Amino acid sequence: MVNEAGRSGSPVVVALDYRSSTEALAMASRLDPQQCRVKVGKELFTAEGPLVIDKLQTLGFDVFLDMKYHDIPNTVASAVKVAADMGVWMVNVHAAGGRRMMTACVERLAHYNQRPLLIAVTVLTSMEREDLAEVGLDVDPLVQVQRLAKLTAESGFDGVVCSAHEVVPLRATMPTGFALVTPGIRPISADLGDQRRVMTPKQALQAGSDYLVIGRPITQATDPSAALEAILAELA
Ligand code: C5P
Repeated sequence: MVNEAGRSGSPVVVALDYRSSTEALAMASRLDPQQCRVKVGKELFTAEGPLVIDKLQTLGFDVFLDMKYHDIPNTVASAVKVAADMGVWMVNVHAAGGRRMMTACVERLAHYNQRPLLIAVTVLTSMEREDLAEVGLDVDPLVQVQRLAKLTAESGFDGVVCSAHEVVPLRATMPTGFALVTPGIRPISADLGDQRRVMTPKQALQAGSDYLVIGRPITQATDPSAALEAILAELA
């Protein structure tokens, strides 16, 4: 069974982009696990390891472990199994690792009663057409996104990370229930930071996104809990 329901019904996943568990836990303790989930990325996990996941779970949070694994099938399947054993709610890989890498993950977790949502990154939103051409992919980014999303679904994964602007074309082509996880979300009033092609939370959900990854508009707010509540109110 896929760990879909989780502990929170909220679509908001707060990115805890910190160097230390002290900072990450201080932020988490200001948030309500009924109102959001949290994302642990490479920086925090590299600095602090599994203990920070355990502590966030003890506070009641569903954890998205954003490691974007990309390696040979056995190595990635083994890493995903460790993540599943830690009880994370969602974990991701790079779809560019291919069908055998993704099916190895699904097969390795086949006997779990509750497994994490398995999500793939298609094309990094930082990559433009010229960047793809430089790595030998002379293709429009959206064509590559669609190709890798199809491969992801065929491999038995549960969804993809995508830009909010890719949600509409992916919703039109992907199977019902295929999860779309979107960063680059900015409430109407927010500072854009280094994000460029952004959408508001409401626009992203209306377009068909399932989970909104939101970092700085919440974590850098004077009152993070109020910022989260304002976003949820905008969605209601
Ligand atoms: O602070 P902000 O809302 O921009 O944080 C977004 C989070 O989503 C960060 O953790 C960032 O690494 C992640 N992310 C992203 N764009 C992607 C994939 C992930 O911003 N394409």
